[in-house]
Amino acid sequence: MRAVDIITKKREGGELSRKELEYLLAGYVQGEIPDYQISAWAMAVFFRGMSPQETAALTEVMLRSGRVMDLSGIPGPLVDKHSTGGVGDKTSLVLAPLAAALGITDPMMAGRALGHTGGTLDKLESIPGYRTDLDEKTFRRLLLADGFAIAGQTAALVPADRLLYALRDVTATVESIPLITASILSKKAAEGARALVMDVKFGSGAFMKGKSPAEALARALVDTGRVLGLRVSALITDMDEPLGNMVGNFLEVEESLDCLEGRGPEDLMELILELGARMAVLGGLASDAATGKDLCRDCLAGGEPRRRFLANVKSQGGDPVQLLELRGKYRSAIQAEVRAGRRGFVRRIDAGELGLAAAGLGVGRNRTEDRVSPTAGLQLLRKRGAAVEKGEPIMRVWAGDRAGLEAALPRLEAAVEYAESPPPQLSTLIWKDVS
Ligand code: URA
Repeated sequence: MRAVDIITKKREGGELSRKELEYLLAGYVQGEIPDYQISAWAMAVFFRGMSPQETAALTEVMLRSGRVMDLSGIPGPLVDKHSTGGVGDKTSLVLAPLAAALGITDPMMAGRALGHTGGTLDKLESIPGYRTDLDEKTFRRLLLADGFAIAGQTAALVPADRLLYALRDVTATVESIPLITASILSKKAAEGARALVMDVKFGSGAFMKGKSPAEALARALVDTGRVLGLRVSALITDMDEPLGNMVGNFLEVEESLDCLEGRGPEDLMELILELGARMAVLGGLASDAATGKDLCRDCLAGGEPRRRFLANVKSQGGDPVQLLELRGKYRSAIQAEVRAGRRGFVRRIDAGELGLAAAGLGVGRNRTEDRVSPTAGLQLLRKRGAAVEKGEPIMRVWAGDRAGLEAALPRLEAAVEYAESPPPQLSTLIWKDVS
């Protein structure tokens, strides 16, 4: 076999066999096939696509490039949730303890902030002492103790994805549905999940801006999952405006606690209940989404998910008492307000722009090696539809440093659009259910 023949076959629109994909990917991971040939292959996939069988074969080849978490002996349905990334999206912090309280085991391997999107690991690590670099033994132990654990992906899991993703990032081949599908599903299968609820987002704060690519990705995730024996259901959800009122690492931990206490913002609670309902269905605890939603609502009201969350904070190195004491106080001293530029109604807050501005405040990073601030971020005091007077505060802002604050303020102001009359309210964030 020769890499050049495999690249040519894909360039001409052929379907690659598992053996060909294995040859290419294993050779790449072992350093025998160079970056430039994998780049050419990725670009050929970008233009020619992949069949469902081919995408499933690629996912398996990537999965087998490293260790697969052995969760044998761990009780409960193993169900996880994954989102394609958003702004103010802290649903994972609520869903993992909620699922655990329902009797699901959630082996959650999460990611970090990059570009305009936030990262679950950065949010949790803003809790003093909280660690996400768990080894496999600890991960297993915490799953047994608390019903969930949240960790970063170890170097041993899916090395092919780490290499390929970095290469795609610099060769304009990230936005390929089969490559994204294989990337996400290989990581989720490697962490040991047997069922997965996907939150595929569209809008300015999402990775996919349009509804139609988001739908194509959701379909590919569900279909490829089926071929692999991984049960996947997907919700396609609106990410045009920030979720909830807080954007920032510790700020989002606080808002997650609000949700666990049943007093989270309406949009965020809606998404949590919809995703939680699908987790309950995949876990065999509810016959349909409506029943699952009731189950999640009752479970949150009973307080067990909050207890599980605090137990997990302790298990992963934080101090729950200190966490509760820091609530409302753990903020950077470098602060400001954004005021309404005119009288009228907030027509829209552009999530993508707001996410980029928040990253500049210190919430996120532009390069993987950048450090994030636990105490930077912003609180939205007004959202879509609110009536505002000129000069009225619409955001509170905290920055990691003064230069970041100065750069972010005009950007935050520009992210808010106004109108003379109230804009139509969104009735729901959920656009489609794909399963
Ligand atoms: N997220 C991933 O994990 N992989 C991709 O390829 C794109 C988004």
